[in-house]
Amino acid sequence: MWKEAIESAMETVKRNATNHPGLFPHISNELKYDWGQNNDWIDGFFTGLLWLSYEYSGDESYKQLATEQLKSFKHRLDNHIVMDHHDIGFLYSLSAVAEWRVTGNVEARELALLAADKLMNRYRDGFGAIQAWGMENDPENGGRIIIDCLMNLPLLHWAYQETGDSRYYEIAEKHAQKSLRFLVRGDGSSYHTFYFDRIQGNALRGGTHQGYEDGSTWSRGQSWGVYGFALSYRYTRKEIYLDTAKRMARYFIEHLPEDYVSYWDFDVAIEPDTPRDSSATAITACGILDILDLMTPDDPEREYLNDALHRMMSSLVEKYSTRNMQEAEGLIQHGSYHVRGGQAPDNYMIWGDYYYLEALVRMDKGIKGYW
Ligand code: GLY
Repeated sequence: MWKEAIESAMETVKRNATNHPGLFPHISNELKYDWGQNNDWIDGFFTGLLWLSYEYSGDESYKQLATEQLKSFKHRLDNHIVMDHHDIGFLYSLSAVAEWRVTGNVEARELALLAADKLMNRYRDGFGAIQAWGMENDPENGGRIIIDCLMNLPLLHWAYQETGDSRYYEIAEKHAQKSLRFLVRGDGSSYHTFYFDRIQGNALRGGTHQGYEDGSTWSRGQSWGVYGFALSYRYTRKEIYLDTAKRMARYFIEHLPEDYVSYWDFDVAIEPDTPRDSSATAITACGILDILDLMTPDDPEREYLNDALHRMMSSLVEKYSTRNMQEAEGLIQHGSYHVRGGQAPDNYMIWGDYYYLEALVRMDKGIKGYW
């Protein structure tokens, strides 16, 4: 089943790249992607899909398409196009770092290091973490962290490994520690965001941006935590991160409906038309794969996590994937971007597509992605 799903996904990725040369899929409210320039936080995912397809198939055309896209990431960084946010990690791990890892292109390495430096500039001494959105003195966001940022930290860890400059590691660590203390709750659930006094650093309150309400658990935020803390463990080997990733995975799994694909928020009332977020399940599947790799062979939770992983991925392939839909541009249906804000509440999400394929190629051939 995995192989057939992968082949079908790779065909879609190639068809999209051929039909929309030089463009990137953006979020839309229709069941097709909007295609545009490289100017959103999500643009690395399409490039990442091309690299996964190349690594899986060895088909050079994917490599050429991915390499071609690197130019737009360089242009974007050089000209600081829509860069006042922390998602520099998502963007450059899947483009520049991926290309360096797969091909050894030194220009890609240089670009990735410049991107890491730009991300470092968002570290704020006042509250000891990376500011998620906006400018330093932004009244709303100036002291705000969000759980998604854990996925941006691998760019800093990679830069540390490449250069030996410990500042990258230290800032990634400070941010992960802050996230652990303030975003993860005692029962393994999470806040999407947390506010600090941006100058004094006092902790103010938890909140949300895309979740149902401030104290709820937004399912995609939870999934960023599962994978993000697993990755923090991968790079630091501090047990607390692996324990946290497992705890958050357990919360995610225990709150899944019968078909093992999450609703958009774990605290929302479930009605017949309550939107799902299939992308959260794909991200969590990747996080579980990393946890399974990192935990000891005799860990008592291994079987439980492995079983949940297979149920989630079987459901995504059988019930949510577009493998039998000839014209579909997305790989999995029923993702949601910002339900409460009315933005793409039931659509394709390009990151959902990326993590879906990342999980599949990891299960089938052990290809690990680029974090
Ligand atoms: N990182 C933004 C999102 O998950 O929607």
